[in-house]
Amino acid sequence: MPGIWHMHDEKIIEYVHSILPKSPSILPRIEDDARQRGIPIVGPLIGRMLFILVRAIRGRRILEIGTAVGYSTIWLGLAAKRFNGRVTSIEIDPVRADEARANIHSANLDDTVEVITGDALDVIPRLKGRFNLIFIDDGKDNYPRYFELCYPRLSKNGLLIADNALWHGEVLRDSREGIAVARFNSMLISSMDALVLPVRDGVAIGIKGGR
Ligand SMILES: C[S@@+](CC[C@H](N)C(=O)[O-])C[C@H]1O[C@@H](n2cnc3c(N)ncnc32)[C@H](O)[C@@H]1O
Repeated sequence: MPGIWHMHDEKIIEYVHSILPKSPSILPRIEDDARQRGIPIVGPLIGRMLFILVRAIRGRRILEIGTAVGYSTIWLGLAAKRFNGRVTSIEIDPVRADEARANIHSANLDDTVEVITGDALDVIPRLKGRFNLIFIDDGKDNYPRYFELCYPRLSKNGLLIADNALWHGEVLRDSREGIAVARFNSMLISSMDALVLPVRDGVAIGIKGGR
């Protein structure tokens, strides 16, 4: 019987990246640029996962919290565009929001994606309607509050996804952000069919309704 491999074994991580096709559109350029400038993006593995999930649910209304320079936004947008869907993404830093808009323009997604500059805690309550998929990827302290704001805004069978659901292992320790992320995870799992996958820094996924 083969030995048990560890999820975070470097060779396994190298392998799963090596079999991925090149990211589409302008994403390879953003991947290089983000690496050089130290901008935290989800990277090609989680980006492609978001793309596949939007395609799987034929998502037409997508919300993202934490745009940065628009990397994950473009993955979401490329999938939503296939169904005439729309992505709304919220970014608090106006310089990053402008850079994201320029990248979205270069990816030919102006008609699919809207970036709103502002604090997501203020912006979400002002948005109208429900969403088929909400992706959370910003300040970890806010995660429990985002659950309270986002859960009611999901459509039936809508997906709630959060990056950094393990927060570098801090969910096991007593740090402020670790406690907030662990609280978010238990809110998600007690309210929805949900799980945390130990991929990269952890990805939480829940589906609404039908329990
Ligand atoms: C990890 S980065 C997002 C990366 C992006 N999702 C990607 O993978 O390409 C988190 C972003 O959230 C933004 N942010 C932090 N707090 C926020 C808030 N309260 N409302 C909106 N954006 C916020 C930060 O400025 C930062 O650009």
